[in-house]
Amino acid sequence: MHEQLITLIREAGEIMKSARDIERGIEVKEGDANFVTEYDSAVQKFLFEKLALLYPEAAFVGEEDSADDIARLTSGKAFVIDPIDGTTNFIKHFGHSCISVALCENGETVLGIVYNPYTDEMYCAEAGKGAWLLCGGKRRTLQVSRQPLENGLSLIGTSPYYTQLHDRTFSVMRTLFEHSLDIRRCGSAALDLCMIADGRAEVYFEAILSPWDYAAGMLIVREAGGIVTQPDGTPLQMDRKCGILAGNPAAYEAAKLLLA
Ligand code: IPD
Ligand code: CA
Ligand code: CA
Repeated sequence: MHEQLITLIREAGEIMKSARDIERGIEVKEGDANFVTEYDSAVQKFLFEKLALLYPEAAFVGEEDSADDIARLTSGKAFVIDPIDGTTNFIKHFGHSCISVALCENGETVLGIVYNPYTDEMYCAEAGKGAWLLCGGKRRTLQVSRQPLENGLSLIGTSPYYTQLHDRTFSVMRTLFEHSLDIRRCGSAALDLCMIADGRAEVYFEAILSPWDYAAGMLIVREAGGIVTQPDGTPLQMDRKCGILAGNPAAYEAAKLLLA
């Protein structure tokens, strides 16, 4: 079943890589600088249709069209999908966007997969079984770094669609900048979480995200030995938008104290 799931997500990645004339199919969504392309919709439609054949008992929630259904993530089996995480990067041909797929059971992520089709990196985790990176036919275990915050890189998401959160975001950015080696803003929340899981960065903060942004990456970080919560330490919820703080245990604790 997982093999088939991974194959489908790779195929969905081909849809992203085949994109031409992206600019022609852009629509503006609610919020500031929030776009959707015909490829976001095409990837979601492809995955919904194919996954429904593999998992007929599951519900499906995706960023496009079914965002209002997030309450369905708290009971039974449900997939939550971000068809393209990093849409602005995608529109700009920045080469740093991904597909995020999580399977939830009664509000807990049991399977998380994040796929960057540009690098062919497939980050996977299964609850209680660990997290792995599949790339170039090889499989490697993911493990967060042991570096303290002061020797670390801080990743920031700017919550671009919520202007009311920009002051808070830039104040946190300054704090983390002053207490770590440097900051990065890469443009995909799901890939930011994978960078933490793979020990390439130490903490990640964003003032608000939706479950399709974090459901898969959260499990990948936890299974790699990291911590993911809301910035005040409370658990992330699956049926609403939440702020997020993730990191290796030492860097996470240090950042949480700084942001309190
Ligand atoms: C966005 C990206 C971005 C993050 C935003 C997300 P989208 O997702 O993950 O890095 O800062 O908060 O909404 O809209 O490209 O799927
Ligand atoms: Ca997203
Ligand atoms: Ca998206």
